[in-house]
Amino acid sequence: MGEDLDAFLRALPKAELHLHIEGTLEPELAFELARRHGVRLAYPDAAALRAAYDFDDLQSFLDLYYAGTAVLRTEQDFYDLTWAYLGRARADGVRHVEVFFDPQTHTERGVPFEVPLDGIDAALRRGEREWGLTSRLILCFLRHRPEAAAFETLAQALPHRGRIHGVGLDSAERGNPPARFARVFARARAEGFLPVAHAGEEGPAAYVREALDLLRVRRVDHGVRCEEDPALVERLVRERIPLTVCPLSNLKLKVVPDLAAHNVLRLLHRGLCVTVNSDDPAYFGGYVADNFVALRRALGLTRADAVALARNSFEAAFLEPAARAAHLAALAAFAEAPAAQASGGFER
Ligand code: HPA
Ligand code: ZN
Repeated sequence: MGEDLDAFLRALPKAELHLHIEGTLEPELAFELARRHGVRLAYPDAAALRAAYDFDDLQSFLDLYYAGTAVLRTEQDFYDLTWAYLGRARADGVRHVEVFFDPQTHTERGVPFEVPLDGIDAALRRGEREWGLTSRLILCFLRHRPEAAAFETLAQALPHRGRIHGVGLDSAERGNPPARFARVFARARAEGFLPVAHAGEEGPAAYVREALDLLRVRRVDHGVRCEEDPALVERLVRERIPLTVCPLSNLKLKVVPDLAAHNVLRLLHRGLCVTVNSDDPAYFGGYVADNFVALRRALGLTRADAVALARNSFEAAFLEPAARAAHLAALAAFAEAPAAQASGGFER
């Protein structure tokens, strides 16, 4: 029974809306890139590096995540990284993906803005061409860095407006409230970038309010701490503001002590536009379908819950109306098909 539902969850057509491309760097690829560039990593092999993925909180993860980017140097590196992710996403039923990248992490170490952009974009275009897997690219400002650095990054993005669709805000949340980035987000919105922001992951519900009121975000990334403010939850329902929730990330970074204590299904049943995503899958023990399967095991996620989450993912995506309608129709056809067909013949 569980295996049947797991096969359904893996094949279920879905959009992934919270995915940091730098967080898809698997240890094996990190070592391959290190060899490519003659760089020594601080660990003897991929297994030892993977064993170090044991985090106390967001910051302990970010330290390793930023260190890992040292092997990403050329357009080819970013292309290989993105192509590897897309293959895994496709196998997980992902039909549309909105990819975050952190340009400052690269420009600060002397890698020009266009290097990650061109590499990531080339792989995304191939994914669309060969597999019909559509995508958007969203640059994230690093909130632990000053406002001026975010403005500089926005200026670097302006010539590439056709290839960068949105702006986000990530990195260390506590002590770095959205308010500090209100002006750069206002400018980004005026330039046509769609705004999203991480808020309410480790930070308080008040940061979710700031993201809505001061950054005017169209979606909140994580947002799980909204529950501490019941009026805010009501507002998120009323205004249908999507949350891009990342259950395995929250578990690994100790936002929740146990997946059984995660509020994702409670929020879904409360009427929020909740979506399920993988965040930094190479570091958090699973890609998007693994997140769905983990929710089935820990919280008894049902087939109907999963279909609702997938529907929300297409509703919350930055898609043109016709493309959204096509994805929703494909999802409905999949969900209504007899179970054996719907799970792609995995049924026993
Ligand atoms: N939170 C904040 N910053 C990040 C994350 C996250 O989960 N992943 C990559 N950068
Ligand atoms: Zn994130």
